[in-house]
Amino acid sequence: MMSVHYETKTYDVLVIGAGGAGLRAAIEASAQGVSVALVTKSLLGKAHTVMAEGGMAAALSYVDADDCWQAHYKDTIRGGKYLSNFRMAELHAKEAPERVKELEKWGAVFDRTPDGRILQRPFGGHTYRRLAHVGDRTGLELIRTLQDKGIHCGIDVHMECTMTHLLKDGDQVAGAFGYWRESGRFILINAKSVILCTGGIGKAYKVTSNSWEYTADGQAMAMKIGAELIDMEFLQFHPTGMVCPPSVKGILVTEAVRGEGGKLANALGERFMKNYDPERMELSTRDIVAKAIYTEVKEGRGSPNGGVFLDISHRGADYIKRKLPSMYHQFLELGDVDITKGPMEVGPTMHYTMGGVRVHPETQEVLNVTGLYAAGEVSGGLHGGNRLGGNSLSDLIVFGQRAGQHAAEFAKQQTILPKINDEEVKGYAEELVAPFERDSKAETPYQIQADLQELMNNKVGIVREEQGLKEAIEELQVLKARAKVARVDGSRAYNPGWHLSHDIHNMILVGEVVARAALQRTESRGGHTRLDHLQPDNEHWRFVNSTIRLNESGELDVSTYEKPQMDEALRDLFEKSDELAITQSKQKI
Ligand code: FUM
Repeated sequence: MMSVHYETKTYDVLVIGAGGAGLRAAIEASAQGVSVALVTKSLLGKAHTVMAEGGMAAALSYVDADDCWQAHYKDTIRGGKYLSNFRMAELHAKEAPERVKELEKWGAVFDRTPDGRILQRPFGGHTYRRLAHVGDRTGLELIRTLQDKGIHCGIDVHMECTMTHLLKDGDQVAGAFGYWRESGRFILINAKSVILCTGGIGKAYKVTSNSWEYTADGQAMAMKIGAELIDMEFLQFHPTGMVCPPSVKGILVTEAVRGEGGKLANALGERFMKNYDPERMELSTRDIVAKAIYTEVKEGRGSPNGGVFLDISHRGADYIKRKLPSMYHQFLELGDVDITKGPMEVGPTMHYTMGGVRVHPETQEVLNVTGLYAAGEVSGGLHGGNRLGGNSLSDLIVFGQRAGQHAAEFAKQQTILPKINDEEVKGYAEELVAPFERDSKAETPYQIQADLQELMNNKVGIVREEQGLKEAIEELQVLKARAKVARVDGSRAYNPGWHLSHDIHNMILVGEVVARAALQRTESRGGHTRLDHLQPDNEHWRFVNSTIRLNESGELDVSTYEKPQMDEALRDLFEKSDELAITQSKQKI
């Protein structure tokens, strides 16, 4: 065995991932008086959180006085096609307003009503104007605020540090091992509790709003130490990403464009949403709008670059530049299109992973791994089969806070640090450097990622069917084998090829999880559409969540569990028609 050098740091709580959930969790843990490390593989502030541009959903009732947490709860459950974890949805709806007010106290500068309260805008699937926002830069303002707050809390922030393996002492998490991206040197963080906030799996897809960081790290690391992933068949294809020029395909076009009155039209000039959801039109839920756009393009009514048209120009240049400044600049600079004068071309883009690590709804502790917590997109439960726009930012702050609190409380109960197994760590280090030793004629991981992205887009994308999913699972085995022998050139210092040589395994593993979960669910619901099972199957699937774990032979075990019942009092909030609503759901594909 080679000799391995690594630096060791010790903390009470280690937070991996520094987007909205990670920052909020770290702030909370620190407020509980424990030592906290916040580690990000990227730069602080560069997180997918900023891609939630249009707002954060909270029943503040500042604009629509009738809004209340019960209405937000019902919208979330209906939007999630009844598959959300009911307790998480309740906590989220109840606590989001307080968390938003707290952000304001910490310096977030929201847009205002004429009488000085936080302004709220409409978004798809929300009954009331509910989204607190800052123009079309709400996620950015959330991150800026939490960053400012966080750096004054005594949190140790470690940037450009990739954690590759979670460590365990018996059944308890013991910290994480990884490397500094700049030097390639190894680092081990020994901690009493760990919070995963690493986001989703967008980079396994070709057309995505996600940036390079989103390679399924948290999901893969958690599975490898015994966690389950749930609801992984449910991915969110945001209806509106840019479609041209090709170099920017997939970049997000915020739902706020539609929230502010933007209209969708096909090449014939028809407002086609009237055929899919005549009541809510452009403000239908994302799963329905994305599939409507997919259908229009597939049936030959698409725009010249394979999307549809989205027009907000009727609101006038001043209004657009004030409420949607980023969109105005984005289209002008990247696409040479002035959205104050005419329409943009848009199409679906892989945006969000609804499923994720299975957690306890109150504490966010990961099932089967003591001392490990997960919050934000990496975790599953809240959003069920389809997330409502704006529910992500509120998810991050509600469950980030909860995870931070409970991880800190757990750490305080531990009198000593969990033990590290040095031999296990050496094994991980050897695994990480192995690509440097491989045949110089072997391929690099870049082509493997490109092939993975193509495969996931085509066969595990916005629509799926049995044959394609089976083929995808077979092709994923081939990609797995290729990744095992991929080579890396150069040294460990700032070497993106080396970084990818590890991340590619995570994407392939979690890509297979998505494909297997999608194969298992023989119905269409929310963000999962099966061309061979076009309708929801309420008899078999309505109350069933999927779960996948790695068994001892390293294979994926796919299964289901029956979701816990909704409390009687909460059930009384719903109407009889709710049952009917899903059986009658029209999915025109
Ligand atoms: O369209 C958007 O602004 C994205 C919001 C979200 O994903 O919550």
